Amino acid sequence: MADVNLKGLRKSYGAVDVIKGVDIDIRDGEFCVFVGPSGCGKSTLLRMIAGLEDITEGTLSIGGRVVNDITPKERGVGMVFQSYAIFPHMTVRENIAFGLTISGASKAEKNAKVQEAARILQMEHLLDRRPSQLSGGQRQRVAIGRAIVRKPNVFLFDEPLSNLDAALRMDMRMEIGKLHRQLDATMIYVTHDQVEAMTLADKIVVLKEGRVMQMGAPMDLYHNPENLFVAGFLGAPSMNFLNVDVLEVQGQEAKVTHPAMDPVVLNTRGRAIIKGSRAVMGLRPQYLSAGGTGSGLVEGKVVVAERLGSETVADLVLRDGTNLIATFSEDRVFPPDEAVSLRFNPAEAHLFPADG
Ligand SMILES: Nc1ncnc2c1ncn2[C@@H]1O[C@H](COP(=O)(O)OP(=O)(O)OP(=O)(O)O)[C@@H](O)[C@H]1O
Ligand SMILES: [Mg+2]
Repeated sequence: MADVNLKGLRKSYGAVDVIKGVDIDIRDGEFCVFVGPSGCGKSTLLRMIAGLEDITEGTLSIGGRVVNDITPKERGVGMVFQSYAIFPHMTVRENIAFGLTISGASKAEKNAKVQEAARILQMEHLLDRRPSQLSGGQRQRVAIGRAIVRKPNVFLFDEPLSNLDAALRMDMRMEIGKLHRQLDATMIYVTHDQVEAMTLADKIVVLKEGRVMQMGAPMDLYHNPENLFVAGFLGAPSMNFLNVDVLEVQGQEAKVTHPAMDPVVLNTRGRAIIKGSRAVMGLRPQYLSAGGTGSGLVEGKVVVAERLGSETVADLVLRDGTNLIATFSEDRVFPPDEAVSLRFNPAEAHLFPADG
């Protein structure tokens, strides 16, 4: 069993606190994705799990065993980095076998394990090539192969696909999803890519400045963000935020108003929304529709519209100067400066206290 438990984990470099008390339980076989802005501590956390950074405070357990003071080698983890350090003078076979070679495995054992990894990664025909004779995606697979042959219980990936172009990323993303199903191993994966996070994860952990902002299943976070940060972080384009005035609150319902909108009644979902205060209304770009139905109505002008073929992304400015993005799931033409009225279903809007 290789569940991974982080309890009260802290990391400081001298006086600089980088990880400020993180609790995460990752189940055996779970695919857990860490996301968050640059510098929030994703790599540091991963390196602490790998044993490449020591832990200032807290406990880290893998498979029920506290591993704070256990060497990286004995933790049973395999790590794949963004800049896949594969050796240019070695063949694919030698590169994949590298970890086994230094731990003194027999030739037969090496052969069998390399063959097995190559089969899983569909690169049996490439074993005798050198890295210079491979595409970027194939090189990345070599790096993954090197982790696979060591049969780790836990795979750690630090932005493994960020050096690849868009098409290759998509292929490799699917490969990694497949790999997870085949190996049934626990995987912890750091990425900046929304799509990777949403599609690969069983559980997403959103980090900010060394703290967990929220964690849960992708759709749970997407539909029920607990705070403004998570609401704005997940989803592309990002959720729109409108500063609204709270006219009335009754039970779970708050009536709010904005200069470019008729008053609407929103569900507070139990948040502390106070009558007479300001609050923030969150509207995902795809929840707005031109000429649709719904009691919410916002009015503005189109500044730019990007036609992507399958969808149109319109950048609008509302009467009071607020910017708003709306996406339409079809090709649409908006003449510049066209005045538009967009409707939304208030049940789909979010409402947060102004302080997030
Ligand atoms: N040796 C160090 N001494 C002091 N601060 C450090 C050290 N290493 C990292 N940091 C700081 O720790 C913070 C977290 O770094 P980390 O590399 O974990 O971020 P990240 O979330 O992986 O960011 P990115 O998305 O850019 O890779 C950063 O603010 C960084 O400046
Ligand atoms: Mg990083």
